[in-house]
Amino acid sequence: MTDNNRKELGLIVARSENNVIGKNGRIPWDIPGEMSQFRGLTLGNAVVMGRRTFEEIGRPLPGRKTIVVSASKRFEGENVSTVGTLKEALDKADSESVYIAGGYGLYKEALPLVNVMYITEVRIFIEGGDTFFPEFDAGDFDVTIGDTYGDDVKYTRTVYRRKK
Ligand SMILES: NC(=O)c1ccc[n+]([C@@H]2O[C@H](COP(=O)([O-])OP(=O)(O)OC[C@H]3O[C@@H](n4cnc5c(N)ncnc54)[C@H](OP(=O)(O)O)[C@@H]3O)[C@@H](O)[C@H]2O)c1
Repeated sequence: MTDNNRKELGLIVARSENNVIGKNGRIPWDIPGEMSQFRGLTLGNAVVMGRRTFEEIGRPLPGRKTIVVSASKRFEGENVSTVGTLKEALDKADSESVYIAGGYGLYKEALPLVNVMYITEVRIFIEGGDTFFPEFDAGDFDVTIGDTYGDDVKYTRTVYRRKK
């Protein structure tokens, strides 16, 4: 599939109030329902992620193609493959939509390329985070603030769609 046929080249992330996405190799919160959007968007499509993020998840995600970017390891299977660069990952993805799922380096590299970012703003302040969402110019995007969910910790779905 060429880029012209692509419905979305998107990025999906959940970040804290202080822009943390990871701590000690993990996502530093566990909020029921917070991952549901990820599943809904990516099912039937391709997900691109860095080697550490894939190892944290520990298995290919059912119902979608996982493309892992790594120079050091290879993961191959029915629903998972490995490439050396983001460009190779995008070339390999033959689904309608492709979603970049982190971590930091892939988000940073993909940011100028994506046409949409699904950012879940988690209303929590994380001390000691070690992985952050990259800085970007919000003026490049039309922002739609969606619904807020959650009990103890609230989170808000936000969509950043690149201005034409
Ligand atoms: N909150 C969220 O939405 C979210 C989403 C994703 C991840 N996270 C968190 O973020 C942390 C992991 O992120 P991370 O940034 O440390 O690691 P990562 O991006 O998942 O993995 C880094 C590794 O991926 C490979 N890689 C990444 N970008 C590459 C590129 N452009 N070209 C070639 N290889 C590339 C390299 O693998 P090799 O070393 O094998 O070459 C690199 O060492 C964890 O804490 C995770 O829980 C949070």
